[in-house]
Amino acid sequence: MRKIAAGNWKMNGTAEDLDEIRKLIAAHPKPRCEMLICPPATLLSRLADVAAGSALMVGGQDCHPRLSGAHTGDISAQMLRDAGATHVILGHSERRQDHRETDAMIRAKLETALDQKLVAILCVGETLAEREAGKTLAVVGEQIRAGLQNLSYTIDSLIIAYEPVWAIGSGLTPTLEEIAEVHAFLRQTIRSGPLSSNGSGAGVALLYGGSVKPSNADAIFALPDVNGALVGGASLRASDFGAIVQSLSASCPDPTMP
Ligand code: 13P
Repeated sequence: MRKIAAGNWKMNGTAEDLDEIRKLIAAHPKPRCEMLICPPATLLSRLADVAAGSALMVGGQDCHPRLSGAHTGDISAQMLRDAGATHVILGHSERRQDHRETDAMIRAKLETALDQKLVAILCVGETLAEREAGKTLAVVGEQIRAGLQNLSYTIDSLIIAYEPVWAIGSGLTPTLEEIAEVHAFLRQTIRSGPLSSNGSGAGVALLYGGSVKPSNADAIFALPDVNGALVGGASLRASDFGAIVQSLSASCPDPTMP
């Protein structure tokens, strides 16, 4: 199972922050896990240049369902690729809220991203009100079902990130038991039923996101069915993100051991 430490810079970062990327690459030339940073679109190609030849991969934070056209301010999957991205985050709760993105819109974006050979990171997660009402599994189950309906993907082209909305940027996290429960449910959902028409659901990487930091990473990465993290605030500094990469790498098998 691949493991991925992914950073989402959101609307943060200018040219001077590329130094953090240089530090990250220098400190982690050969991590055992995959390492990805999704900067704002304005930094994508410059960050891709800095990352060229290193283990660091680069991704976008959203894409439009169409490849080109009259959509002021939007960015297509083709443009992300052109700028050096290999991945794209889709359906982040901030886009669901700020831009009223629906599951149907997210599904359309996923289809385009997969067509354009980008690895799609589908984000799902419940609000605090939904958790308190006992609806967490129903909410994430529906987001997965509607988001992936009739799409064909492989274990290499799809990643799912569970990000409880109330845990994002708040310093709060679910308990380890709660994270494990949702991840087991996601694994079961993706493994079985119509979603897994090609039988590959068992190998889709499942990331946890929401207030991941160096101090809680080890415990979260030790959970079954957690294959990495999608990190916001703590991905902006090489020292913090590097510590999270280190933590995830420690949970991967040593490739030099027989
Ligand atoms: P924080 O790590 O800042 O809570 O953000 C999580 C997130 O939304 C990543 O996509």
